[in-house]
Amino acid sequence: MLFLQVLQFLQMNFAYYCAEVFCILALFLAKYLWRKSRKCAAEGLQGPKRLPLLGNALTVWCKDEDIFENLVECFSKYPSPMRFDIFQQLFIIFREPAQVEKIFSTSALTAKDDIYKFIKYFDGEGLISGSGAKWKKDKRLLSPLFLKRNIVQYFGVMLNHAQILAGILEQEADRPAFDIQHYLHRAVADIVNETIIGVQTNAQCGELDDFLSCIGRGYQLVHERMVKPWLQVEFIFRLTPKYKELTQTRQVIHGFFRKVLRQVKKSHSHLGPKEIACRTILEQMLDIRDEVPDFSTDEELIHHMTTFYSASEDTATSICSFALVMMGMYPEYQKRVVEEMHSVIGCEELREEHLQRLDELQMVLKETLRLFPIAPLLLRKVSQNIEIDGFNIPAGTSLVVSIQNIHRDPRFWAKPNDFYPEHFLPEAVKKRHPYAYLPFSAGARGCIGKPYAYMIMKTLLVTILRKYSVEAVGSLQDKPITADISVRFKDHSYAVRIMKRV
Ligand code: HEM
Repeated sequence: MLFLQVLQFLQMNFAYYCAEVFCILALFLAKYLWRKSRKCAAEGLQGPKRLPLLGNALTVWCKDEDIFENLVECFSKYPSPMRFDIFQQLFIIFREPAQVEKIFSTSALTAKDDIYKFIKYFDGEGLISGSGAKWKKDKRLLSPLFLKRNIVQYFGVMLNHAQILAGILEQEADRPAFDIQHYLHRAVADIVNETIIGVQTNAQCGELDDFLSCIGRGYQLVHERMVKPWLQVEFIFRLTPKYKELTQTRQVIHGFFRKVLRQVKKSHSHLGPKEIACRTILEQMLDIRDEVPDFSTDEELIHHMTTFYSASEDTATSICSFALVMMGMYPEYQKRVVEEMHSVIGCEELREEHLQRLDELQMVLKETLRLFPIAPLLLRKVSQNIEIDGFNIPAGTSLVVSIQNIHRDPRFWAKPNDFYPEHFLPEAVKKRHPYAYLPFSAGARGCIGKPYAYMIMKTLLVTILRKYSVEAVGSLQDKPITADISVRFKDHSYAVRIMKRV
C-alpha cells in the first residue's frame, strides 16, 4: 500500500517536473526568438565581438568581484550608445550626458528593468523596485516627507547618535588602524531606526548586529541573482540552499518591520502632522493613510519601510566610510574641512544651520560620490518605441546608464581617477554638462533621500572630525572598487587610524 502511494507520488512529481522543464524550454525558445527581433535595435551600434548564443557573456565570466571593473572597462571602449548582450539579452549602454538627460526626462523611460524584480522579494512595490501608476502615486505622496523642511526635525536625533559614536571611538583613538565602517553601520542604523520607523535601538552597543548582518546577507543574495543568469530561473534557484536562506532573511527583516508597525499603529495619534512637532517617517505614512485610505496596506507599508531602510542605511554608511578614508589619504583636504569647521562652528554645539555653510565638506562629499557612486549602473526598460540622439530604440529594450563611466570621463573631469574636490568649485561646475554628475540619478526616478542622506553624513563627519584627526594608508590607486548592490572597496576594508585632537 505504502509502496503504491510512493509510486503514485513519484509519478505525479515526475509529470510535474517534465511539465516544468517543458515550460522552461518553451519560455527560453520564445525569449530567444523575441530577443532576436530586439537585435534590430542594436544595428549600427558598436560593441564588443559577440559569440554565438553567449553574446558578450565572457566579459562577466570571472570572479564576482571583477565583474564590475570588467564591465566599466568594456563600456569605456565604445562610443555611446553601445550594444552589449549576455545570452541573447540585449543591453544598450549610455555614457553621454546629453543622451542621459533625454533618458531621465522621458516619461516612457521611467520603468525599471526586469532585473529589479529580484529586489521586489524584499521591497515589493516600494519606490525603488515599483513601476506604473502605484509607483507614481506613492512617489507623489512620499517625496515631501524627505524634503529639507520635514527632515530638519531629525537633526537632534542625528547629532545625539553622532556624539555617542564619537564617544565610542575613544577606544580606537591613538591605536593601530581599524575598520571605521563597522562603527558607522551601527550609528547610521540607530539614526534610521529612530527617525524613519520610530524605534529607539542600541545598535551602537551591538544589540542589532544579527539584524544588520541579516540585511547585508539579503543584499548579497539579491545581487547574486541579478548577476547570475542561472539563478534567475525560479525552479533552479529553489533547488539551491540560497532559496531557503533568502526566505529566512526576508522573514527576519519583514518580521522586524511588522513588529514595529504593530507597535507604532497602537500608539499612532490621529492628530495629524500639523499639530505635532516631531513625527517619524512611518507616523507620517500612517497620517497619509488616514487621509488617502487606499494609499498602502500594512504589507505595503512594510515594503516602504524595507525600501527606505535599505536605501538609507547602507548608502550613508558607505559614503561616510569612503569620505573618511579619502580625507585620511589626502590630509590637505581634511585640513581645509577642519579649518572651515573651526571658523563656522567655533566652540559652539553643532547646529543644523552650520551644516549649510560647510562648503569644503560639501565638496569633499561630492567628490566622494563622484568616485564612488552608490548606484553606478542604472537600468531602465523602454515601454514604447523611442528615439534617442538619432537611434531608434524599440519597446522592450533594456537601457543601462553607466554613471561610473560618466563620473570618470576625462572630458568632464580634470583629474578623473584622483580625489580632487576642486572638481566642484563653482567655476568648474558651470563649465560641465549638468548630467555629467549624477550620484542621486535625476528626473522622475531620481533619489528622494538626498537631503536626509546629506544631513546624516555631514552630522556624523563633523562630529568625528571635531574630536579626531584621521589617517589612512596607501593611495586611491591601491584600492580598486567593486559593486554588489552598492559600490565598495574590493578588499572591503575601510581602515583608518584616528588621533585625538588636542
Ligand atoms: C548617499 C546616499 C544616497 C545615494 C548616493 C542615493 C542614490 C540613489 C540613486 C542613484 C537612485 C536611483 C536608483 C535607480 O534608478 O535605480 C536612488 C533612488 C532612490 N533613493 Fe536614494 N540614495 C541615497 C540615499 C537615500 C536615502 C537616505 C533615501 C531615503 C530613504 C533614499 C531613497 C531613495 C528612493 C526611495 C529611491 C527610488 C526613487 C524612485 O525610483 O522613484 N536614498 N537613490
